[in-house]
Amino acid sequence: MKLSYHGHSIVKIQTNDHTILIDPFITGNTLTDLIVENEKPDVILLTHGHNDHVGDTVEIAKAADALVVAPNELAIYLGLQGLNTHGMNIGGAKEFDFGTVKFTKAFHSSSYQTEENEFIYTGMPAGILFTAENKTIYHAGDTSLFGDMKMIGERHPIDVAFLPIGDNFTMGPEDAAYAVELLNPKVAIPVHFNTFPPIKQDPQNFKELVENHEVKIMAPGDVFEC
Ligand code: NI
Ligand code: MN
Repeated sequence: MKLSYHGHSIVKIQTNDHTILIDPFITGNTLTDLIVENEKPDVILLTHGHNDHVGDTVEIAKAADALVVAPNELAIYLGLQGLNTHGMNIGGAKEFDFGTVKFTKAFHSSSYQTEENEFIYTGMPAGILFTAENKTIYHAGDTSLFGDMKMIGERHPIDVAFLPIGDNFTMGPEDAAYAVELLNPKVAIPVHFNTFPPIKQDPQNFKELVENHEVKIMAPGDVFEC
């Protein structure tokens, strides 16, 4: 499968038959190389309801007739806007035709801010374990470090882990480096940094803090075959 990074928390997974887009925050994302109109995924996976993760989901999903898999309340909210959605919750896994999705816990918050500045409750934030073609990808979403990452890694051997390193809203580089120890992925890739001033980080610093594991720093648009 092909994995590509597109700034902030956007990850694209291309399997032989499907394109899966995670957290497509394109409009307002100064680091992304993606253009909303060009994205035609089969599936959009969302970790939580924050606007910097839901992003352009509605427009993309409508244009591409994509299935949106999200935490349950967020899925219901997006479903009311006419999207084809599937709600899940933490600890639950489901085998789809494009791969298996399991939602894992994330210590964070989750709401969607409307243009009228109303805050919609969008359920618990999540991390995502995605398995297809004998590879398991972990996208931590937005989260702090937590000890159960060790259990997640033991129960689901991880090929590639996308981990936030921006600090302020999520783990910073030191905690993310410790998360790599717990999760024990074959490759760790830093995300959720440099998009906004409070999450400015040098990913090289994260890489240097990680011992005994491969860290791959991806620039927006970089593709990695795993
Ligand atoms: Ni968030
Ligand atoms: Mn975020």
